[in-house]
Amino acid sequence: MTTKKKSDNFIWRHKHLLGLRDLTAEQISYILDTAQGFEQISTRSVKKAPPLRGKVVVNLFFEDSTRTRNSFALAANRLSADVIEFTKKTSSVSKGETLLDTARNLESMGVDIVVIRHSAGGAPKMLSRSINACVVNAGDGYCEHPTQALLDVFTIRKIKGSLKGLKIAIVGDIAHSRVARSDMWAMTKLGAEVTFVAPPTLIPAEVKKLPVKVSYSLDEVIEKVDVINMLRIQFERLGGNPFPSVREYSHYFGLTAERMKRAKDDIIVMHPGPINRGLEIESEVADGNNSVILEQVKNGLAVRMAVLFLVNQAATTQQ
Ligand code: NCD
Repeated sequence: MTTKKKSDNFIWRHKHLLGLRDLTAEQISYILDTAQGFEQISTRSVKKAPPLRGKVVVNLFFEDSTRTRNSFALAANRLSADVIEFTKKTSSVSKGETLLDTARNLESMGVDIVVIRHSAGGAPKMLSRSINACVVNAGDGYCEHPTQALLDVFTIRKIKGSLKGLKIAIVGDIAHSRVARSDMWAMTKLGAEVTFVAPPTLIPAEVKKLPVKVSYSLDEVIEKVDVINMLRIQFERLGGNPFPSVREYSHYFGLTAERMKRAKDDIIVMHPGPINRGLEIESEVADGNNSVILEQVKNGLAVRMAVLFLVNQAATTQQ
């Protein structure tokens, strides 16, 4: 654990983590520093620490998830919390219960932290206004996925030392990606230059108001960037056909071994998962030397421990 200075409470006083848009670079760095302190718990033979002992965390997932859900559950377990797993399919939501009723019922059981993933943008914010428990956003609609972006910048910072001046390309289905949005906030606040790379149909309409550059050609940016983050096409969210064929998309926007020959030797290749091998990224690249995809998953655990720890600490000191 890092030793906490007296002023630290003033850097982090939020009992919710809803997104990164409204956080300062100092607050983001503070979460990353806290995560760094938690990293070594996973290397011990007894992989547990007591900060959340006696606390209850509920994993309230209304959308499918493998990495994020398990990572939050493990993070809460490592901090000694009790964890309740909630899925839409096996809950009373399938009988028509509203999100708010579900959450209030869970709160009546003494839940301290609600980790929520929902297809509706703004669901975590709505919840944070209606219940007393801490709320952590694990992905809402196309809006934000703060812990994914935090683990992304944590991974980059660990390798490069800092994000200042780095050129980062986020490639693929930006329009439907909450990861792209949270990444953009975290990366630019920490001093990186972000370029969204996609066909025009997968670039969000509001892009001019965002702090990013835009390119419609992966071939134009591949040589210049220090980090490349490949996104999955969110087929479950596509209204129409954003490109003529999957083959054509791969041809122009896929990260192939051939394209990698033109990239910097030390380029960092990232992907939030789940990967569609052969579509947005070739297996050779996903499993290659520049790929940090599994590092990202590993770092997610420390980052989520830090987030759970910090929101709980803020809630406890506010009481
Ligand atoms: C992402 C998500 O759910 O937004 N995945 C994740 O959390 N690791 C990205 C995706 O589903 O493609």
